[in-house]
Amino acid sequence: MSAAAYGQPAQAPASDPTNAGKAVFSRANCVGCHKWHGNGGGGYGGDALSLRKTELTRDQIIETVGCGRPGTGMPFFLRGAYDEVKCHDMNRQDAGAQMPPEGGTFLRPKDIEAVSDYVIAHIKGGGEPTFAECVAFFSSTSRVCDVYKTQAQKPDDAAAASTGKGQ
Ligand code: HEC
Repeated sequence: MSAAAYGQPAQAPASDPTNAGKAVFSRANCVGCHKWHGNGGGGYGGDALSLRKTELTRDQIIETVGCGRPGTGMPFFLRGAYDEVKCHDMNRQDAGAQMPPEGGTFLRPKDIEAVSDYVIAHIKGGGEPTFAECVAFFSSTSRVCDVYKTQAQKPDDAAAASTGKGQ
């Protein structure tokens, strides 16, 4: 019963089964609207909902990504959606003006599952984005992450602070 025998949980992002989904999250430009942290915000597709606060199940996320969301800026990513494949029991004609935009890239069903698993594992249920999460996402100390660093840490390293000024 001694989990402690194994020490700290291993941090092995290289073997993380959701890495494929993370790649899709970037490649399909989910980040463009939902941002790396998934909290969304204003953008060209309207206000993308927070995937951290989402209450959708895995199946519902898969459906949302494949079919988009009619009447909103959430695009569909499944090739043939509303065409060969009915979505929400609608084809293009039925959807009419509610037809969601087409994603910038089509995803295979397998990729849609992968990105949904990534959302479930790394985004859904998350609190405010942290510096550690940001660094993990970008696999580096990207300058994008600096804003989270100043929030999370006291600037106790005066030398480092004096080099990179400028907002
Ligand atoms: C062009 C901008 C845009 C892109 C790209 C985009 N989304 Fe969205 N997404 C939205 C908007 C806007 C909504 C909110 C729809 C609404 O108002 O109900 C949304 C909603 C969602 C929801 C529903 C959340 C909920 O709780 O109801 C999920 C899940 C989602 N997006 C996942 C993704 C994934 C995964 C990708 C990448 C494959 C992606 N989105 C790409 C704009 C976008």
